[in-house]
Amino acid sequence: METLEAMQEEVNAAGANVRALKAEGASPEAIAAAIDALKKTKLTLESELATLKEAGNAEAKAKEEFRSKLSGVLEGRLFYIPSFKIYGGVAGLYDYGPPGCAVKANVQAFWRQHFVLEESMLEVECPAVTPEPVLRASGHVEKFTDLMVNDVQTKECYRADHLLEEKIEELLRDPMLKADRRRELEDLQARIDELKVEEMSVALKDTNTKAPVTNNDLSEPYPFNLMFPTQIGPSGAVKGFLRPETAQGIFVNFRDLLYFNGGKLPFAAAQIGQSFRNEIAPRAGLLRVREFTQAEIEHFVHPDHKEHPRFAEVANIQLNLFSQEAQLAAVKKPFLMTVGDAVSKGIIANETLGYFIARCHLFLMAIGIDSARLRFRQHLKHEMAHYAADCWDAEIQCSYGWIECVGLADRSAFDLNAHSEKSKVDLVAYERFDTPIQEEVLVMTPNKQILGKAFKKDAKPITEALQALGEAEAFALQEACAANSSAALKTDAGEFQVSADMFKVEKVTKTLNGRNYTPSVIEPSFGIGRIMYCMFEHAFYIRPDDEQKTVLKLTPVVAPIKTTIFPLVNDDKLNDIANQMNKTLTSNGISAKLDTTAVSIGKRYARTDELGVPFAVTVDHRSTTDGTVTVRERDSCDQVRVPMTEVAELLGRLCKMTATWAEATASYEKQATADD
Ligand code: ATP
Ligand code: GLY
Repeated sequence: METLEAMQEEVNAAGANVRALKAEGASPEAIAAAIDALKKTKLTLESELATLKEAGNAEAKAKEEFRSKLSGVLEGRLFYIPSFKIYGGVAGLYDYGPPGCAVKANVQAFWRQHFVLEESMLEVECPAVTPEPVLRASGHVEKFTDLMVNDVQTKECYRADHLLEEKIEELLRDPMLKADRRRELEDLQARIDELKVEEMSVALKDTNTKAPVTNNDLSEPYPFNLMFPTQIGPSGAVKGFLRPETAQGIFVNFRDLLYFNGGKLPFAAAQIGQSFRNEIAPRAGLLRVREFTQAEIEHFVHPDHKEHPRFAEVANIQLNLFSQEAQLAAVKKPFLMTVGDAVSKGIIANETLGYFIARCHLFLMAIGIDSARLRFRQHLKHEMAHYAADCWDAEIQCSYGWIECVGLADRSAFDLNAHSEKSKVDLVAYERFDTPIQEEVLVMTPNKQILGKAFKKDAKPITEALQALGEAEAFALQEACAANSSAALKTDAGEFQVSADMFKVEKVTKTLNGRNYTPSVIEPSFGIGRIMYCMFEHAFYIRPDDEQKTVLKLTPVVAPIKTTIFPLVNDDKLNDIANQMNKTLTSNGISAKLDTTAVSIGKRYARTDELGVPFAVTVDHRSTTDGTVTVRERDSCDQVRVPMTEVAELLGRLCKMTATWAEATASYEKQATADD
């Protein structure tokens, strides 16, 4: 970009030179030479611009072609397909077909293994239909909104941030953009997620953002709530919503889960389930849909002790970090740093958050995300909710850009406090002090007998209101009662006059062995569909020798089927052995697909490569004499001969990824490839 700017400067200078020479009445030769120089600099600039434009167009075209080939495979092989297709489909709703279901089940099973089992988490399953008060307490009824704008003519709805983002990208592509304007736009781009209504309005105008396709003016931005409302029961009296996240089910169960855990903290609860968001502009296949599977963890921890006992195990893991500082720097670039260093330098707020970021990195690596296309982006100050201590998104780069696939947040005590306050149930943990302490405490003792007689059914809210009084209010009430024989008390059931004999308030010194406190929560929140789509993009390639041979190099952990079994030709003896192999493998928990179709072996390999099947077992004539079969690895197409009795054990190791292909097959006879 500097070169382009320098070239523009040269053109400007050459133009100024021509004007100056003319003004001072220089010789025609001198003026002609200056005009020549101006023409040359202009030509160089124009050719550079044309090259850049071509490169940009070529890149966009290559991405488009890549996506069309990939979606041809994914939709063609029924990994996923638009829902309700025969009725024309509905934007943002997708069905998973057989291989898609299998991959999704494998991703979820591995997530359970990696997090729930290895971290001894408490798994729960809560309903998607959620009563309104729960989501009001959590803030979703009021604040779970995106900013929307309309095309003023057609009334078409758009997400304001998406249009602004696209417009900024378009403006940034202009090579003639002045450096300070570029910097301004890049800063605005970095802050898009945190813009409030008024700021968004200013930004849309400043960038002259218009409606796509029509280029009409846009309305002012306004908030749109993304939750699907519903009613619970036939009367319509109980309002509810489909949950926009699975997390709230865990928070409202905190008390029981803590009890289940023996009252001990820290502990984590986890849930995998459907979430629903009425997205304004669903797009990009599985990346932004209206119903999706989330896998969420709520790790409850003492607010002053966010160390993690297993942090040392991950401290040396290198992460690609895009910190707040890096995003706001003149050159915006992520950097590599160990999680240990990031926590000790205060870039990541605490060990527990760092631990989960590292575990998330390991999870994504194991399912086949390319480490060069993964970064952890820290939320900017205003992008974060006011209560949050720190937030990072695992962003994966795909042909649609950098996509948030996992959100990892230290939400402090916000959720438990909010539900405590609204439900009037204490959601706290108890900590025992190492040495007891003496403390002056306020003791409010309502006289239940007198209150009961005087107020009957209202005695309960009055008792509760008395107990909820703070120190100053309690003594003020006592003084008011002493001075005027009675005083007003506000309660949930209205205002009542209470007298001095109805309660006693005093301060006493008590020995405290411990105290109640509200834990903080660290929340990693995974979107399974987004992760899967990025994983498919990273896994997809075309064999260099043949345009038609498309492959999904899914890792064995997530592959929909672990191996195919082929008899080389359609022969009874070979078919029998293949059937036997199928039985042995499936009974050993290795999912296999028997393919006895009479097409060439090369075609059969190509078919399963496209489904991401990592291994293939072929039964040939030699199998009938020496009891061996060939085992093929999908990406290298390497084959080895393996005694049939050892195939299950070999594939078991390969599928659990406890050994690489080279390690596991070193002792076996190599076999020429039959791929062609
Ligand atoms: P975005 O800003 O992209 O809408 P978000 O910040 O609202 O995402 P979160 O609320 O943090 O996302 O949700 C946690 C995870 O749930 C995300 O990281 C993503 O993987 C997934 N997710 C959220 N919304 C969708 C959606 N509409 N479709 C698919 N997955 C989603
Ligand atoms: N629970 C995090 C989210 O879905 O936003």
